[in-house]
Amino acid sequence: MAAKSVKEKEAGVFAGLHIVCGVTGGIAAYKAVEVVSRLRKLGAEVHVIMTKEATQFVTELTFREISGQPVSTDMWAKVPHFHVEHIALATLADLVLVAPATANVLAKAANGIADDMLSTTLLATKAPVFFAPAMNTAMYEHPATQHNMDVLRARGAHILEPASGPLACGTSGKGRLPEPAEIVAALGQYLEKRATLAGKKILVTAGGTEEPLDPVRYLGNHSTGRMGYAIAREAARRGADVVLLSGPAMLPVPEGVHLISVQTARQMYEAAMQESADADAIIMAAAVADYRPAVTYPHKIKKGEGSLTLTLERNPDILLELGRRKRTGQILVGFAAETQNLHAYAKAKLEKKNLDLIVANDVSREDAGFAAETNEAILFARDGQEREIPLMQKTALAAILLDSVEKRLAEKA
Ligand code: PMT
Repeated sequence: MAAKSVKEKEAGVFAGLHIVCGVTGGIAAYKAVEVVSRLRKLGAEVHVIMTKEATQFVTELTFREISGQPVSTDMWAKVPHFHVEHIALATLADLVLVAPATANVLAKAANGIADDMLSTTLLATKAPVFFAPAMNTAMYEHPATQHNMDVLRARGAHILEPASGPLACGTSGKGRLPEPAEIVAALGQYLEKRATLAGKKILVTAGGTEEPLDPVRYLGNHSTGRMGYAIAREAARRGADVVLLSGPAMLPVPEGVHLISVQTARQMYEAAMQESADADAIIMAAAVADYRPAVTYPHKIKKGEGSLTLTLERNPDILLELGRRKRTGQILVGFAAETQNLHAYAKAKLEKKNLDLIVANDVSREDAGFAAETNEAILFARDGQEREIPLMQKTALAAILLDSVEKRLAEKA
């Protein structure tokens, strides 16, 4: 895989990121249009929330066109769904930016007031929040506003310093919204610092293999690829060079991820052996078929009167072979799909396949394992550590797993 160019790296930190952009009622709201446009061009998915006052300055339609997403304005307009809606954006967000941020929204956020879509999202989100204040100098310098910003900073929010210059009220001073390019650059710098896997190659496998029986039938399993794609996306978000080796899946390829599509276990084996040699970490979330039909018929098998017996033969165990070939410093992670004896079976696989970590999930459950958006697992490490991961979105589990991989990469380095 070729090294990323500077431009790719710049775009890479935003690629696939879900950014919620809050726009409040200030004359600088028009500049937020360019901010959204730039973020989108860098590969982010931007969801705009406008306060009612902001709609006096720029129309909802403008942001809808620029972002390519529906724009949230009035949470009461969506009464049947508003709970879902505000929580959905708050949890979807990888980053929240409020630009321009009026003195009013700073005061609400500092005091935990949640009386509209934006302030409710700010209260509900766990994502990093950036405020870009823009207002008249006297309002900006007022002790109340300064205090509110101190409170927000103390809670971990980021405040982008306003610029100085002529203001809409006719005076001149501090309180101008920074230029869109500067706002985007500030976010980029923050994200780059979080690019904790920059320079690392991570190989992720996902989805189920299909083992053809004849031109119309195959042996397969219920894997959708969700778990593996979530890991690939999170690794790319952290700046890694990600190769995603996937069985047939209906999911969009995460931004910045290099996809290699395969169908069978033997194809996955070949590609895995090639791509693993220079990988810093390998995460096998794919559901690989242990057996394949001994014969693949060139024509459709016609039904007869009696039963049909199939002979199956063993597929290679990819992870076992990767464990044999593991280089010093390389981290190897497996998954264990179990329906019983989760602890014992997973630990046995960890040992036998020479893994550093194994994620044991109970695939007999409807809300975990195959196909679900959520998963629950136990993470076993070679050094004996165990961590129970409660039921959560697969994306969140992917982040926990990659924290663990990062820690071990650092230790081995
Ligand atoms: O794709 P989703 O719908 O989101 O579902 C996610 C998942 C249930 C597929 C995932 O969470 C999971 O458990 N993946 C591993 C499935 C599996 O094959 O488990 P296993 O216990 O049979 O295999 C143990 C490990 O060996 C796995 O890492 C597997 O990738 C690997 N293996 C298995 C067989 C084989 N021939 N070669 C292998 O490399």
